[in-house]
Amino acid sequence: MAMKEIFSSTILKCLLVFVYLMIQFAGTTVAAGKQGRWQLLLNNTGVVAMHMALTHRNTVVMFDQTEAGHSGYAMRRSHDGRRCLGIPRGSEDSSCWAHSVEYHIGNNSIKPLWLQSDTWCSSGSFLSNGTLLQTGGHGRGYRRIRQLEPCTNMVCNWRELKSHLVENRWYATNQVLPEKDRVIVVGGRGTFTYEFVPKLTANAGSYDLPFLQQTFNRRQAENNLYPFIHLSSDGHLFIFANRDSILFNYKRNRVVKNFPRMPGGGSRNYPGSGSSVILPLDHTDDFQKTEVMVCGGASSGAYHSARQGNFLEGLSSCGRLVITGDRNEWAMEEMPGPRLMQDMVILPTGHILMINGARQGSAGWNNAHNPSLQPYLYKPKDRLHNRFSVLKSTKVARLYHSSAILLPDGRVLVAGSNPNRRYTYDNVTYPTELRLQAFVPHYMGPYYHNSRPLNVSTHYSKNPYGVLYGEEFNVRFWLASRPSNEIEFTAYSPPFTTHSNSMNQRMLRLKCNSLKREKGGFMRAVIEAPSSSNVAPSGYYMLTVVNEGIPSTSQWIRFMHHSPWTM
Ligand SMILES: *[C@@H]1O[C@H](CO)[C@@H](O)[C@H](O)[C@H]1NC(C)=O
Ligand SMILES: *[C@@H]1O[C@H](CO)[C@@H](O)[C@H](O)[C@H]1NC(C)=O
Ligand SMILES: *[C@@H]1O[C@H](CO)[C@@H](O)[C@H](O)[C@H]1NC(C)=O
Ligand SMILES: *[C@@H]1O[C@H](CO)[C@@H](O)[C@H](O)[C@H]1NC(C)=O
Ligand SMILES: *[C@@H]1O[C@H](CO)[C@@H](O)[C@H](O)[C@H]1NC(C)=O
Repeated sequence: MAMKEIFSSTILKCLLVFVYLMIQFAGTTVAAGKQGRWQLLLNNTGVVAMHMALTHRNTVVMFDQTEAGHSGYAMRRSHDGRRCLGIPRGSEDSSCWAHSVEYHIGNNSIKPLWLQSDTWCSSGSFLSNGTLLQTGGHGRGYRRIRQLEPCTNMVCNWRELKSHLVENRWYATNQVLPEKDRVIVVGGRGTFTYEFVPKLTANAGSYDLPFLQQTFNRRQAENNLYPFIHLSSDGHLFIFANRDSILFNYKRNRVVKNFPRMPGGGSRNYPGSGSSVILPLDHTDDFQKTEVMVCGGASSGAYHSARQGNFLEGLSSCGRLVITGDRNEWAMEEMPGPRLMQDMVILPTGHILMINGARQGSAGWNNAHNPSLQPYLYKPKDRLHNRFSVLKSTKVARLYHSSAILLPDGRVLVAGSNPNRRYTYDNVTYPTELRLQAFVPHYMGPYYHNSRPLNVSTHYSKNPYGVLYGEEFNVRFWLASRPSNEIEFTAYSPPFTTHSNSMNQRMLRLKCNSLKREKGGFMRAVIEAPSSSNVAPSGYYMLTVVNEGIPSTSQWIRFMHHSPWTM
């Protein structure tokens, strides 16, 4: 054999071995350069991020429960104006301690906000003008409705409304509806009903939802709290509790479909606390196909076992279900490991990041063990068994009462964790965690800068406040290299996140009607807004240009109903 042939056959063998290894490791690991990295942003957020939400002012609201007493942020004055002096540790008075903060992404700093009643295990949604509507909580907060109008100066703060909820809502789920600025609030501890905010009529009460009663399991404590709710593009609601799910017509109080029971056993809602997303909706079928994915959760009996110190292994299965059309079957697959209390974040690439949580136990005080330190990445469009990969580990355990959200620059903000009733730093296995981190996905690396769309701006002239449904708008951006064939324009609705439940999280792949190259490397695209508020409830979305899988920084854009005069 000639030297050249030996050489090339060696190369061939190496290649084959390499391909073989790649196949062996597919689903368990990815090249080091694609695992992402972690950033420590702050050592002390002051407040546990039990609840977290990104606003269109590029601030992040975090809050926990006022009943936790001493937080990590002492106030100089209480909210009734008294000076806060020498309150002994252990005091029940929480008014001199912040339980909500606003994080400024731009300068990496926090400032305190005042809460008037307890927001423990509450729920929320953004309204069409970017105001955060937040509902329920515990004690005096059971029926409260609060608003926060995000701002960048010192003026904004929580405001409690005069109107109250009809029923106690502790561990309820919110979904913003296609009707402008109406939110549905579903369930809560011992509350098997739903109601609307604002109410449909002045005297309206709540409406029974027998599905919540049917899926409640008193004996096993698999009590279906924080049900997963997603708005289907046909205008109905998908409601999932433990293993069962329905498609629900909230306008007529009628169950439209009973979906098959999800395989895999165990329980997926609090305290089982798996997680759920609606996969990105796509313009190619006019956003009609709606598919949800539910992952992880706790084994049957995990809550009671954990109370006795026995931490059962979590569920490692995920299920995908198309909720539109007439073929509604669960398609099951396995995550790289068991996981519960994870957050599922839709990245600008349309991939799903699973981050935070534990491998064993259940939600609730001190009920979990063995933190899940490695994020998983899931690529919905890849071949089955090839969709999961394992990303860079963190050293910080993020268990009960932790949260994660996507930021406009493409990072994922990770905060919270406190399985203890109070802020506790010593003599416990999992202390209160006040460090703020960002997970930085691989696509942010300098290696990809040549592909990254820069200087993105949006232009619409017909209406100064936003883009109407079905209308075209312009997106201008700069590219260092020739554009690839894979340029996508995505719109993302930022969620209200708590207890692994990202309420109202939604992504749409928008239609590009034309793409032209201008002078100096600039591109101009004509994009079509989603066709209706069933597809995208009105409000602020993060618009991102994704070139060859590399996202730009997102720009805020508002999709809205009708004319500016009805804003
Ligand atoms: C956090 O604290 C550690 C230890 O004191 C210090 O080394 C680090 O610089 C701090 N990091 C930040 C972001 O403040
Ligand atoms: C936003 O809308 C809500 C609900 O209609 C309203 O209460 C609030 O005042 C509005 N905020 C602004 C800044 O217009
Ligand atoms: C951070 O920026 C916000 C908004 O501009 C400002 O209100 C705040 O004072 C700044 N904080 C710090 C510590 O610079
Ligand atoms: C932690 O436990 C040690 C040993 O039992 C004790 O000396 C210490 O006071 C405890 N610390 C706190 C903050 O409770
Ligand atoms: C893009 O924006 C940056 C500032 O954000 C500016 O410095 C740069 O010149 C802009 N690039 C182009 C090509 O306009």
